[in-house]
Amino acid sequence: MSTLKINNLSKKFQTNDFYSLENVNLEINAGDIVGLVGRNGAGKSTLLKLIAKSYIPTSGTIEYNGNNIFNNDYILKDVGIMIEPVFYSYMTVKENLEFYLEVHGKQEFKKNIDDILELVDLSKKKNNKPENFSFGMKQRLSLAIVLVDEPDFLILDEPFVGLDPYGVQELLEILQSWVQERSISMIISSHQLSELESICNRFVMLEDGKMKDIQIEGERSLGQYFTGGKDNK
Ligand SMILES: Nc1ncnc2c1ncn2[C@@H]1O[C@H](COP(=O)(O)OP(=O)(O)OP(=O)(O)O)[C@@H](O)[C@H]1O
Ligand SMILES: [Mg+2]
Repeated sequence: MSTLKINNLSKKFQTNDFYSLENVNLEINAGDIVGLVGRNGAGKSTLLKLIAKSYIPTSGTIEYNGNNIFNNDYILKDVGIMIEPVFYSYMTVKENLEFYLEVHGKQEFKKNIDDILELVDLSKKKNNKPENFSFGMKQRLSLAIVLVDEPDFLILDEPFVGLDPYGVQELLEILQSWVQERSISMIISSHQLSELESICNRFVMLEDGKMKDIQIEGERSLGQYFTGGKDNK
């Protein structure tokens, strides 16, 4: 049972004269599958990278299960992060998973490797190196690495990008089966609104670094929040 609590989070990069995120507040509780939407440059990746500790906030706090994530290295140990590729091209698929678990001191999860490779449909490629894999195969390897240590919380930045429609469907099914089997939480950013609608039970939108909760009810769909183009800004 995990909770992420973001309080008054702001981020201004030194090179910029504007805030990429401004006073963002968000609480994600066990079972929440949160879709994060917003136009290009709205601040989605910045938010996810702050949660992943790739950036330091300008102000505000991020707590995971009540602990400030910047206090020590172990607070995010049960969080699976898929923001940028995390595998090595010169290792085989299986070696990549073993290496990831060793580096993180999680050898006890090696028993999961075969099942996870089955889940992401890479079993037949387990002794191949990913250097010549297609984009979708690389995405699936990234996902296998994220899932192998049974995370309680997932952070996914545009996981569907570059996948063909079958790949998108497969990824959705993998995530859905993962959600159904475990009581986990997720935050997923994407521009693929109908895919998000099919998996998320909550939606938040960033607009020029500011966050608002959005409700999807009845006939209303996520796409309607984007109509009006630039006038919406
Ligand atoms: N490392 C950085 N240094 C300076 N500015 C940055 C940096 N990262 C992001 N920004 C700026 O912060 C703003 C938000 O960018 P971010 O990448 O978070 O947007 P996004 O919502 O993920 O967009 P997209 O949908 O295109 O992925 C943009 O104006 C961007 O130029
Ligand atoms: Mg982004």
